[in-house]
Amino acid sequence: MQEQNNEAGNAYWSSRLAFILAATGSAVGLGNIWKFPYVAGENGGGAFVAIYLLCILLIGLPIMMAEIMLGRRSRKNPIAAMQFLAEESGRSKRWAGIGKMGVCAGFLILSFYSVIAGWSLAYVFRAIGGMFTNIDLAGANQMWTDLSSDAERTLAWHSIFMITVVIIVSRGVTGGLEKMIKLLMPALFLLLLVLVGISFTLGDADKAISYLFDVDFSKISTGVVADAMGQAFFSLSLGMGAILMYGAYLPKNASIAKTSLAIVAADTSVAVISGLAIFPLVFAIPGLEASSGPSLVFKALPQVFGQIEGGTFVGTLFFTLLFIAALTSAISLLEPVVSWLVTQRGYERTHAARVSGFIIWVLGLGTVFSFSIWSDATLTLAPKIGDKIYVILENQSFFSMVDFSTSNVMLPLGGALMAYFVGFMMKPEIVEEEMNDLPTALFKLWYFLIRNVAPVAALVIFIHVTGIGAAMSVLFGWS
Ligand code: PHE
Repeated sequence: MQEQNNEAGNAYWSSRLAFILAATGSAVGLGNIWKFPYVAGENGGGAFVAIYLLCILLIGLPIMMAEIMLGRRSRKNPIAAMQFLAEESGRSKRWAGIGKMGVCAGFLILSFYSVIAGWSLAYVFRAIGGMFTNIDLAGANQMWTDLSSDAERTLAWHSIFMITVVIIVSRGVTGGLEKMIKLLMPALFLLLLVLVGISFTLGDADKAISYLFDVDFSKISTGVVADAMGQAFFSLSLGMGAILMYGAYLPKNASIAKTSLAIVAADTSVAVISGLAIFPLVFAIPGLEASSGPSLVFKALPQVFGQIEGGTFVGTLFFTLLFIAALTSAISLLEPVVSWLVTQRGYERTHAARVSGFIIWVLGLGTVFSFSIWSDATLTLAPKIGDKIYVILENQSFFSMVDFSTSNVMLPLGGALMAYFVGFMMKPEIVEEEMNDLPTALFKLWYFLIRNVAPVAALVIFIHVTGIGAAMSVLFGWS
């Protein structure tokens, strides 16, 4: 480990590999294993997956490179970084606003993330206790309902998760995290592959493959595009400063392009492999719907563990790895705020972690209640413009509102603004200097994507999801 410390008060990663591991630890999490399958299922499969992959390549990868660059250049937390970089290029320090929005998004995301991670931990104990043995769909449904609708129990697991995150972040990010991820990532990857094997033998592999990879163009709608794009940002941890923060600890000589490619490849393959593990089961278990929503993984997988030899062990291992994967992502959600409180507000690290952790814990109550005592309370956002009603959100729970406003709005918007900043606000010399290890042709391609595709695409989605598009279509008579 290098002794040198940067301004964020943390040691640099010991190597490029250490950074890749940490950033992959941030990217790979519940987003890949829990969220990707259920969002793909809600959006009807292939078309969603294809757009998701396109978004990863054309928007996610270039923005990943930009975010790492912003962090490495500034060596600061997202708020201070944006202010510093704006001033360096002679721009308004109001650009710090991107960092502020990112910190808010991090609070909101972690608030529900912690609840779902709590479920995973709860399932570790259900697996150890042999509760999956010979379980059928009715049993799996019951097990999930018993847990999620019991506010007290979910609250306890949510609290345990948040306390763990606060303790780890209090100690500083490098060091322990590197070692943990080095072991975890390969183990998780291997286990997922094993699960794909099992689920291909037990389930309907053909149907799953055509569901995930046959693109039915008639299924493409703005909603599907918005969800796919939001999922790409969420899964790659982009648009809120988590990757920027980790980039702040990246040694100067590491190649940003190669590093980003490695992270994006790892993250995307874990998501696709999770899909391949879940969907053969979905089609083989009568009554289990692809569109089951957030409970999908929790209802499908226990039945497999319940049927196979050594299922108790495999099940325990799986939910433990899922929990640790969630933990490494959660750390990256909390780190930017804590680093900001420490360097800009003079907080002591432990105090900063506790205060922000507590606020997030309180916000998380909204998600806990969404699945229990508030499960009937839903919100609808459907403005009537002229004589048409535009349904933006229909019967959404508190959890889905938070999820929607972060994944589909704040992250793409944050990412688009960062791309715009790099593409048009930063001095081109600075950008070129930071990216100087890219061959000229690739640099040009990246700069083109950052300046054009990324912000435009992100803004289009943003306009759609906020309903501004609906309003404009009325004003201008589009249909
Ligand atoms: N990428 C993480 C996941 O897929 C979630 C996350 C989002 C982490 C944004 C950090 C920032 O689980």
